[in-house]
This record gives sequence, C-alpha cells and structure tokens, in this order.
Amino acid sequence: TRVALAFSGGLDTTVCVPLLEEEYDYDEVIGVTVDVGQPAAEFEEAAETAAALGLKHHVVDAREAFADLCLESVQANATYQGYPLGTALARPVIAEAILDVALDEGCTALAHGCTGKGNDQLRFEAVWRDSDLDVIAPVRELGLTREWETEYAAERDLSVEGGSQGQYSVDTNLWSRSVEGSELEDPATIPDDDIYEWTTTPEESDPAFVTIEFEDGTPVALDGEATDAVALIETLNETAGAYGIGRTDMMEDRMLGLKVRENYEHPAATVLLTAHEALEGLVLTADERQFKNHVDQQWAEKAYEGLVDAPLVAALDGFIDETQTRVTGTVTVKLENGHCRAVARESPHAVYSERAASFNEADVGGGIEQADATGVAKYHGFQARLADGDPTA
Ligand code: ARG
Ligand code: SIN
Repeated sequence: TRVALAFSGGLDTTVCVPLLEEEYDYDEVIGVTVDVGQPAAEFEEAAETAAALGLKHHVVDAREAFADLCLESVQANATYQGYPLGTALARPVIAEAILDVALDEGCTALAHGCTGKGNDQLRFEAVWRDSDLDVIAPVRELGLTREWETEYAAERDLSVEGGSQGQYSVDTNLWSRSVEGSELEDPATIPDDDIYEWTTTPEESDPAFVTIEFEDGTPVALDGEATDAVALIETLNETAGAYGIGRTDMMEDRMLGLKVRENYEHPAATVLLTAHEALEGLVLTADERQFKNHVDQQWAEKAYEGLVDAPLVAALDGFIDETQTRVTGTVTVKLENGHCRAVARESPHAVYSERAASFNEADVGGGIEQADATGVAKYHGFQARLADGDPTA
C-alpha cells in the first residue's frame, strides 16, 4: 500500500515519513513537493531530505496556475484582515497536484503534516475529501508538538534542514512568505528583522516609480514591457522588497476561531493590489465600487477558507469579470521607505471628466451650471435638522 505525502522537507513533513510506515503501516511513502514559487533552496532541501529518507520524490511545477490564481485574487482586491492570502490560495493548487500524483502512483491515501489547530488542514482536505482516497494527518492524529518532532528527528538521525529559520514554521510561495512559531507566538514580542527574507528593513532611500498596465483587470506589463504572471510577481517581489514594502505583523483569526500572531511579507502583492484598486477608483461607478466591496470581501473569505472552487466564488466571479472589462489602463506606483501608493492613473474607460470637475471651469458641462447645486444644497441634511428640532426645516 502506498500513501502520497505533501512533502516540503521541513520538520513536520519529514517526521511524517517514518510515522506513516510505522504507525500507519504503509509500505511506501511517496513525497510530493509542489512548486508554487518557493526559493530554489527549498527544493534542494526537500530533494536531499527525501534522498536521506529513501523516499520516492516528485516535484510538480504549478507556478503558472498559481500565479494566475494570484492575479485573479487581485481582481477581487483580495486580502483577509490585511493579509494577501498567499498560503490560502496556494493550498488548493498544491492539494490538486498531489492528488494527481497519488492517482498516477496508485496510492490509496493522502497525508499532510498540518496541525489540528490551523487552516491548512482544512484547505488540503477540502480538495482531498472529494476523492475516494483516505486522508491521514499524523501530526494532528498523534497529537505531535514541534518539540517532540525535533527530538524524534534527532533520535532517528533524520536530516532536517531549515538553517537559522529552523525554529519557525515558514510557508513560502510566489505571493507571500509567512513566519510563525517560537518567540513570535507571544504577540508582545517585537520580531527580529532577520525573520524577513524578501523585504529589507525600510530605511530612507530615494523613491522609485513603477508603472503597471492592466488589461481587463489583469496586469500585463511592467514599466512598458509585457510580462507573464510569474515573472511579474518575481520582479516586483524584488523591486518592492528592496524598499521594505509589504510586511504584515498581525493577529489573525483562523477558521477554527483561534487567534494567532502572524508575520508575512508580500511585496509584489502589495504593489499589485494597490495599483489595481487605484485603477478601479478611476473606471468604476460609485455604486459599482460600493457593491464590489461586498463581493470582494466574500471572495477573500472563501479564498481564505481554501474554497476558491466553491459555487459562490464562481457566481462572484461573474460579477467581478463584468466589472473588470473596464479595468484597463496604467497606474504609476511610488515605492518608498516601507510603503507604496498610487500616484498616477489613466484609462480609456475613466468615469471622469476633467472639464466637469475642474476649478477653472464655471459650469459642469452638459447644460449643468454650478448654481444648479443650490437646490440640492438646500435639501442636504434636511432630516438631521428635523431631528434637531428645527421646525422650519
Ligand atoms: N495563517 C496563514 C494562513 O492561514 C499562514 C499559514 C502558514 N502555514 C505555515 N505552515 N506556516 O493562510
Ligand atoms: C499548521 O497549523 O499546520 C500551520 C498553520 C495553519 O495551518 O494555519
């Protein structure tokens, strides 16, 4: 009997290998590492650990599919409590890829190294439980702690890499890098700067400008050069990371109700979300923007739950796609000292008339005079004046 394990080469998934053989009686564990844009070092680490464990190891490249999903999330301006959803969006992609390998390899079960406290178990299993394979979660089922895992790995001589970051649970993909655990579990602890790898500590530096061109809500060019999704995100992670842009240190409300302290870095996500929202501000009507806020919020919540394939999301996408047909244009974003903001935007679909808004034109145009607003101004606040007891109102 064979089991396919979501394998990163980190502590949790490494100790799962002997446990699946000894505690769960599988003859063979197949390790699957899915490439969603982790740094190359993580694959070397995973391959080395797999070799040391005598594990059959697959690496599946899912970067394009994942990058496309990240850009879809930009159309929904998707963040959860301020976090751009990197881990949440990656999990279903990873789960699907592992399921495919498991079926190819004739596995009868799927396993992950998530705890019973987090979100990731729910996101993986939402995909896997839609198959006929058994689902195994050794860390959750055996009640393991990282301390126990560290000792067990030492006893068994299991090579677990992780270098100086070994004490943390780190999850990296194109869209975000999350760091949790160890002293960070105390929300009152100020994190060391070296928990961050993509972003430098913000310090005074000359600002830079990037221009992003959108077509139907999708970024297609950076500084005038056409780019694909993966390259765009990688480039912006570097450019904006150098300005210390896109760090989030937050209390996150997980699906189970637990509050946890999370640290994230996500430079490209921050820049792209900023640019996209700025362009929507130019091309969508006020009521579209207001309604879309609710739609976006729902989209982000389902994405956080790992349910981007839920029927609700397909329905929300219908609305979002309709609005995005006008989200075409260019936004300039200024990068400086730890933050970024949109400083210029243009679009052929602008719901904007410079002539109408201008301080230098007496009338509005279209037969509307400034004086036409007098009647509106007289009515404005009428009910508040009545509530104040003004009988003449
Ligand atoms: N709490 C975040 C989320 O639910 C990140 C989880 C990261 N996972 C990890 N093993 N460090 O999206
Ligand atoms: C875990 O608990 O396994 C990682 C964090 C999470 O899933 O939210």
